[in-house]
Amino acid sequence: MNSNRKRLSIEDGSIASRTRRQKKSTIASFWNLLLPVPVIIETISWLDQESLMNLCLVSKKLNGIIAGNEPGNENRIIPVFEVIGRTSLETLFENLRGYFKNKKTKNKLIIAEDIQMNGITSLDFSTSFSPGTINSLTSALFIMLPNLRQVDMSNTNISATGILSDLSRYCPSLEKLTMHNSTGFYISAYDMIFSKKLKEIYIDNSYFHGDNQDSDLNDHQDTFMFHYCCDALERVSIRNMRFMSYLGFDDEQQFAFSQNVSIKFIRNAPQTLRWFRSDLTQENMEMLRMERPGIELLN
Ligand SMILES: *[C@@H]1O[C@H](CO)[C@@H](O)[C@H](O)[C@H]1NC(C)=O
Ligand SMILES: *[C@@H]1O[C@H](CO)[C@@H](O)[C@H](O)[C@H]1NC(C)=O
Ligand SMILES: *[C@@H]1O[C@H](CO)[C@@H](O)[C@H](O)[C@H]1NC(C)=O
Repeated sequence: MNSNRKRLSIEDGSIASRTRRQKKSTIASFWNLLLPVPVIIETISWLDQESLMNLCLVSKKLNGIIAGNEPGNENRIIPVFEVIGRTSLETLFENLRGYFKNKKTKNKLIIAEDIQMNGITSLDFSTSFSPGTINSLTSALFIMLPNLRQVDMSNTNISATGILSDLSRYCPSLEKLTMHNSTGFYISAYDMIFSKKLKEIYIDNSYFHGDNQDSDLNDHQDTFMFHYCCDALERVSIRNMRFMSYLGFDDEQQFAFSQNVSIKFIRNAPQTLRWFRSDLTQENMEMLRMERPGIELLN
């Protein structure tokens, strides 16, 4: 919404803590008495998340505007609770168990009464070594995190795991999927059929499953890259796209196949698509810019 505006911080970090209380009450009366609500809302729209959270504590009125449903205020606090399991999913679950045992963190995690953690919107279980651990525990995690909007699964081999169909089914709010250096994504994304809000896909340096229909420029017009989840796509990156070894492609065939796959995608891409990064040749990009001028094409 406002994410491309430069965010300002109301704390400069240099205020000594003993003057902080006094300063807060001065700020409170300034905001409460002097500023009309539309001015407050305009000011709030420039603040970053941390400042919003600080300002929320200043007065009931401000809390009502920021955390409540004051019409006109679009810069709300986005609940984010970062849980990172760098080593393995088992460790991640171990950490989660820890958070659940601790009253303070438990209350942050559970906003609804069931065991779902609705406050978590971002999950990063990319690993720095390849391939990462992906197993049935991951699906359990998706069930617990129904509001996930961003997932990073870079450096993982998802072949034969069914993990994407679980992600798609249990996390319908998914907006951003990152899977660089991974193996096993189906070009058509047939397992992501429930992801109707997906806006961004970043899958560079990865091996894809696919077949001839995906690259056929003359027939099978309704079969193209990501066509099962492309309703809302805005940004896509598939640099250095490779294909699974069972396809038996040599380098030249890899190249021809990926050119066709990319051309077919751009020709069929939704009107929402703005940005596409691939290995398309300059010649093919020039051709496609004429056909779809609204899409920025780059390597
Ligand atoms: C990925 O997993 C599949 C199925 O388990 C396996 O056949 C394939 O060799 C793996 N690929 C890589 C690059 O590890
Ligand atoms: C992908 O793998 C390469 C080589 O193994 C590595 O240098 C790079 O950092 C990896 N990228 C990501 C996003 O993990
Ligand atoms: C790419 O498309 C062209 C033009 O339709 C076709 O002749 C060629 O066989 C296709 N190549 C691949 C690898 O699909």
